[in-house]
Amino acid sequence: MVKKENYNVSEILKLATSFLEKNGIQNPRLDSELLLGAVLNFSRIEIYTDFFRPLSPREIQAYRELISIRAKGKPVAYILEKKPFRHLVLKVNQDVLIPRPETELVVDKVLEVAKKRKETEIKMVDLGTGSGAIALSIAYEMPDAFVFALDISDKALRVAQENAEFYSLQDRVKFIRCDFLDGLDDCFMNEIDVIVSNPPYIPSKEIDKLQKEIRDFEPLLALDGGPDGLREYRRIIAESPSYLKEGGYLILEIGGDQADSVERLLNDSGKYDEVDVSKDYAGIERVVVARRRYIQLPAASYQSPGENMSREKEG
Ligand SMILES: C[S@@+](CC[C@H](N)C(=O)[O-])C[C@H]1O[C@@H](n2cnc3c(N)ncnc32)[C@H](O)[C@@H]1O
Repeated sequence: MVKKENYNVSEILKLATSFLEKNGIQNPRLDSELLLGAVLNFSRIEIYTDFFRPLSPREIQAYRELISIRAKGKPVAYILEKKPFRHLVLKVNQDVLIPRPETELVVDKVLEVAKKRKETEIKMVDLGTGSGAIALSIAYEMPDAFVFALDISDKALRVAQENAEFYSLQDRVKFIRCDFLDGLDDCFMNEIDVIVSNPPYIPSKEIDKLQKEIRDFEPLLALDGGPDGLREYRRIIAESPSYLKEGGYLILEIGGDQADSVERLLNDSGKYDEVDVSKDYAGIERVVVARRRYIQLPAASYQSPGENMSREKEG
């Protein structure tokens, strides 16, 4: 990439941007700035306020190495081992999915439904926690929440645990290795206020067609949603009612064209009501919220929810 010995910030950014562009990288200027910021320990603003600062030979060499790694497709977040998500900057590596901006909307929905709960201490479960993005944001933004953060990957759980410790949230986020809800202790049955998940949802045959940044670098375990992309939704929708309190909520991130199918799965199960789909900032249907149905007793003995009554328990 670099042909001469002396460059200032402006010159080297121009070169790096054109090199990344030639290598098919989607946001070459942004990525060049982020990587240069890491080498110089500059914010993006400082890059522009120090636009004509000369670089030392060591800085040029370090930058050249990062740019050549990026040109091969490795995402910036994995190169820098960090990714901002809501109010946190999370450690990430190739054991975890890079948290996406649209997943921030999932957390908004959790905060929204949590306000409707009467309980002062809210118990939540994050299924497939990855870096801990959803679980840790909830704990950070809701001081009264207790979150069980589940993942089947030990390596992912190690990253999430590190993030929890960095933000001193480990007292209110408990990490458990689990195959979704299979393995979660029975003592949590009918105890959970909100279950949230951004499960793997890419249909298996689509994985090969993903952009190389995702296909070659992100964990397959975080992507592959089975033959039709709905395998994990079927499980989560079937397993969650036993753990949710009546009137508790299930909140799911979904892929671009999955709203109708996921809505149908929820309705067909007969265990949920108030199913609602929200769009993300790009106008794509992204989050489904469903309420765990109250179990109605036979008409004669039925009293409205909220009254002190004993209800039959569903499996
Ligand atoms: C799409 S990623 C979501 C990560 C994180 N919640 C986020 O939104 O950035 C899905 C996560 O589910 C986990 N996962 C996949 N299959 C699982 C299973 N059967 N049980 C529990 N977790 C699973 C993966 O390891 C991965 O961390």
